[in-house]
Amino acid sequence: MHLSQSFAALVTLALTVAATPVVQDTPKITLPFAKHINATGTLNLLAQDQARAKFFKSRSKGQHLAERAGSIPVTNTAVSYTAAVGVGSPATTYNLIVDTGSSNTWVGAGTKYVTTSTSKKSGGSVSVSYGSGSFSGTEYTDQVTLGSLVIPNQSIGVASRSSGFSGVDGILGIGPVDLTEGTVSGLSTVPTVTDNLFKQGTISTEVVAVSFEPTTQETVTNGELTFGGTDSSKFTGSITYTSLTKTSPASDYWGINESITYGSTTILSTTAGIVDTGTTLTLIASDALSKYQKATGATLDNNTGLLRLTTSQFNSLQNLNFNIGGTTFTLTPNAQIWPRSLNTLIGGDSSHVYLIVGDLGSNSGEGLDFINGQTFLERFYSVFDTTNKRLGLATTPFTTATTN
Ligand SMILES: *[C@@H]1O[C@H](CO)[C@@H](O)[C@H](O)[C@H]1NC(C)=O
Ligand SMILES: *[C@@H]1O[C@H](CO)[C@@H](O)[C@H](O)[C@H]1NC(C)=O
Ligand SMILES: *[C@@H]1O[C@H](CO)[C@@H](O)[C@H](O)[C@H]1NC(C)=O
Ligand SMILES: *[C@@H]1O[C@H](CO)[C@@H](O)[C@H](O)[C@H]1NC(C)=O
Repeated sequence: MHLSQSFAALVTLALTVAATPVVQDTPKITLPFAKHINATGTLNLLAQDQARAKFFKSRSKGQHLAERAGSIPVTNTAVSYTAAVGVGSPATTYNLIVDTGSSNTWVGAGTKYVTTSTSKKSGGSVSVSYGSGSFSGTEYTDQVTLGSLVIPNQSIGVASRSSGFSGVDGILGIGPVDLTEGTVSGLSTVPTVTDNLFKQGTISTEVVAVSFEPTTQETVTNGELTFGGTDSSKFTGSITYTSLTKTSPASDYWGINESITYGSTTILSTTAGIVDTGTTLTLIASDALSKYQKATGATLDNNTGLLRLTTSQFNSLQNLNFNIGGTTFTLTPNAQIWPRSLNTLIGGDSSHVYLIVGDLGSNSGEGLDFINGQTFLERFYSVFDTTNKRLGLATTPFTTATTN
């Protein structure tokens, strides 16, 4: 199946739906997006997530300035959530990774940039290094189209060289704007698409909400990105908001405080970490993972790097509770495992049960002790609220689904 075809169909559908008047407190734009698992690339799923985690932490740790400038984290391209983003007029469509952990938007890794009358070379060079891979090129301003929404003057990177990005065209960076510092010559920071939507008055509050759903398919369009508000059809109950953490380096990203318990066992005492759409697994500090491993009886699987359970261990698995902002967000036993029908895609065995909570690669106490990644976000609706400096989470119709 051609992704672009299904995108086109869904964007059309979204436009049709948008034509029906709906009463809302804020204008908002929703953009469907797809999950794609690259079978070749997923063998090193954990390694890619760990490289990203390491990069998140090192960026603020006083590496050489030269190295820090222009550095944003690596994205796990083995499992990517991509949105179809239009650039130019007439627009060329690019499939961009939706990334809350970085903030530059750029194209050209796959489909080449097509200049049109709306393309303006800004004169700046852009260079971004990743934990693994990089891109460099020229910064342009161009018209960017997100579903039915048009941003007339968006600063975007155009890669003349990139590595580590296969099967995607670049990144839609919706992290904090400060992460763009030093990435483009002549600009202190580069406004994100969300910044521009807000500045241009298209959305009245600077909020992006993300809906993921668990899936057992290799490729599926089931995500939804909403700018300027939330989509109440995608969550149940109310949204719990929590202040962004003040603890560095988590505070450079969408960072929050949380604690984790397994049944009644404390796995991680209250500490800072991040919520990130660009990480696939849910990573916790090594010492916390040891406690989780002991409590579940899991063994470390050599092929995948993930914890593995026997069927009887899975049958007695307890809830894993994330305590955030005074509310408990529970990953049920089924939500703690990788979809079994996709085991072989990550180098696993179809008869085994693998846990989606993996090793961050460093011990707790370093200011970024967990990453709630896609596997967490497929169970909870998330709201990235720049205006109120807070992060929201809510349950969804899929929170307790037993699809895995
Ligand atoms: C267009 O965007 C650039 C870079 O963000 C900015 O410097 C410039 O002022 C913008 N121009 C207009 C007309 O909005
Ligand atoms: C999958 O990943 C491999 C290795 O990273 C890459 O060579 C290939 O082009 C990717 N395929 C798709 C469809 O993304
Ligand atoms: C998060 O935890 C840190 C360390 O315990 C604490 O100083 C801070 O007040 C907490 N809350 C926020 C919003 O940072
Ligand atoms: C895992 O790999 C190590 C080192 O290669 C080896 O010693 C060990 O026996 C392997 N364990 C399993 C369960 O295969």
